[in-house]
Amino acid sequence: MDTPHIISMFDNITPTYDKLNTWFSFGLDAYWRKELVKAIPVKRGKILDSCTGTGKLAFLMAEKGYQVTGIDLSLPMLNLAEKNKKTGNTVEFCQADALKLPFSDSSFSAVTSAFALRNLPDLIQAFRESYRVLDDKGTALFLDLTPPSFPFARPFHRFYLMTLLPLVGKIVSKDPKAYHYLGASILKFKTRTQIAEILKSSGFREVQISLLSGGIATLWKALK
Ligand SMILES: C[S@@+](CC[C@H](N)C(=O)[O-])C[C@H]1O[C@@H](n2cnc3c(N)ncnc32)[C@H](O)[C@@H]1O
Repeated sequence: MDTPHIISMFDNITPTYDKLNTWFSFGLDAYWRKELVKAIPVKRGKILDSCTGTGKLAFLMAEKGYQVTGIDLSLPMLNLAEKNKKTGNTVEFCQADALKLPFSDSSFSAVTSAFALRNLPDLIQAFRESYRVLDDKGTALFLDLTPPSFPFARPFHRFYLMTLLPLVGKIVSKDPKAYHYLGASILKFKTRTQIAEILKSSGFREVQISLLSGGIATLWKALK
């Protein structure tokens, strides 16, 4: 799917996105985002949350004292993020493309992104942009859904993604095809090591891979 179609799909599923994310991951999505936040190597500083969606990760980081900017191409997602903002919350949201960031070089201490890599048509370009806006000691942290590391668990995982998830998604969300696409995109996604290689070829000098919950989510920590 190209970017305009992907964004229109996210526009359509915005009202049910958070609820279904929590249902489909049995609440693990919140735990995975917390693990990402724990892996940020600095205690203070400016963070860019790319593909921020409804802002869940951005709010979590702001609560820890970081100065967070969240970007996304979907206006309904950004509007919901603004609505979810609590009083006193300092997160700034703006509409921007992860492949063409409207920020000058070395603007952030960290760049983060959760559950979005599979939707980006050009990972090298996205990683280069993240690298460019990071300061000299900056770190990029990417979280995404991946197949489990145990081979015996893979048929169950595939069944879940290709049968249960599209069925419930079709009933609950406004876009009947969206959850078929989302399930298939996890299975078609590059391997953990391929992602690490792409990060390195985009300029990052070191990449650490952490498997979460048996590998059904992966965190890549890339150092500039
Ligand atoms: C699966 S959601 C993840 C949302 C959020 N990060 C979370 O933790 O739930 C992916 C988001 O990426 C956004 N997106 C997809 N392609 C994008 C791009 N090229 N630039 C900016 N945002 C993009 C979509 O609009 C959507 O909100």
